[in-house]
Amino acid sequence: MPELVDGLDSKSSAFGHVGSSPTAPTSLMETYNRFPLSIERGKGCWVWDKEGRCYLDGIAGIATCSLGHSDKALRKELTKQLDRIQHVSNLYRIPEQEELANYLVKKSCAEKVFFCNSGAEANEAAIKLSRKYGHKVRGIEEPLILTAHSSFHGRTLAAVSATGQKNYHKGFEPLVKGFEFFNYNNIESFEKLVNRLEEEKPNIASVLIEPIQGEGGVNPGDKVFFQQLREICDRKKILLIFDEIQIGMGRSGFWWGYEKLGIEPDAFTIAKGLGGGHAIGALLVKDKADLFCHGDHASTFGGNPFACKAGLTVAKEITKRNLLSNVQERGLQIEEGLKGILNLLPNDIEQIRGWGLLQGLVIKKDSKLTAQIIARNALNENLLIGSAGQKVIRLAPALVINEHEVKELISKLKAAIINSI
Ligand SMILES: Cc1ncc(COP(=O)(O)O)c(C=O)c1O
Repeated sequence: MPELVDGLDSKSSAFGHVGSSPTAPTSLMETYNRFPLSIERGKGCWVWDKEGRCYLDGIAGIATCSLGHSDKALRKELTKQLDRIQHVSNLYRIPEQEELANYLVKKSCAEKVFFCNSGAEANEAAIKLSRKYGHKVRGIEEPLILTAHSSFHGRTLAAVSATGQKNYHKGFEPLVKGFEFFNYNNIESFEKLVNRLEEEKPNIASVLIEPIQGEGGVNPGDKVFFQQLREICDRKKILLIFDEIQIGMGRSGFWWGYEKLGIEPDAFTIAKGLGGGHAIGALLVKDKADLFCHGDHASTFGGNPFACKAGLTVAKEITKRNLLSNVQERGLQIEEGLKGILNLLPNDIEQIRGWGLLQGLVIKKDSKLTAQIIARNALNENLLIGSAGQKVIRLAPALVINEHEVKELISKLKAAIINSI
């Protein structure tokens, strides 16, 4: 049960069973297959639905609410920002944007930043950057971008074309041209693709890759593979761009996923955790990839003072509260807890994998369990969890989760799985 803080009252933490939540038709397009649950408010790692039931949030807006819900520091800074100014066009200098860019540059290998509003938009910027690099630096007429099978890069047309999962493409053809795919963590597959493409023409401009695949099944990058990839990209003057949208901003226990792999990318994209629940994304580049000139790229809302104040507050709080250590410790605690579940149910659970506070529990192919069934049953245990495909349960709680909350998370998850069998 949550500590009661900042004016949230205890009466609303009654536990109960899901069933009476709204399922009535709405005027919304049917893009989401939603749970029958209307979340009204939250505090830290806990949320309350319309009926006042309290749930432990093990997914944090899908790896987004880094500081948890309704964080005191974020509320204070954003309230002050609303009183000052919310939006200014990028026609003018925006001090909050410059301050956030400086902070991110100080904490990373990047030298420059472009701000936008989402992960897909950040990857669109990375795709345009790849093409500009191809044309301007390498003199390639039709630059190619290589991405991995099972990857996920977003839902806009170029980002979805870059995504290595056919189910996201179906029905939206023709896709954007210029993407080719290799097997993740498989250097032979990468080299084979490069050799095949280069037999025709040396026109590979960039590789866009997640340091850990999130949507594709919580699949961590292999250090040796990534080091070989870095070496090949250097040798062939191919830009190496990381999609850090899900893992960046501390979720791995390090600021950036690339630190887990012992290499640096030439550019990387971030979004989800950056604004702690507010819409902001960014493309960060080293000098060699700092190629956009005036007029090349833009975003009306991108990097406005409100969103940047959110980003800046999240970043400073990660430092101030030493949240990277918390992520490492709580990540290990979750791993231990998940191992206990695996040992208890070896016929259904195959593997545990992940980094820090992005962890996956992999269900055996031949088990009748699915991540969706378990996520639905988790609601009856007053727990919110995610999935990554049919057979992987995804946990991505706020970076502020404490030891007691992790214990509860594991015990609720265990109950949900047992009740699903
Ligand atoms: C690795 C990765 N890239 C890109 C995206 C797309 O981000 P957004 O939904 O903010 O457009 C996501 C979202 O899940 C992601 O996990």
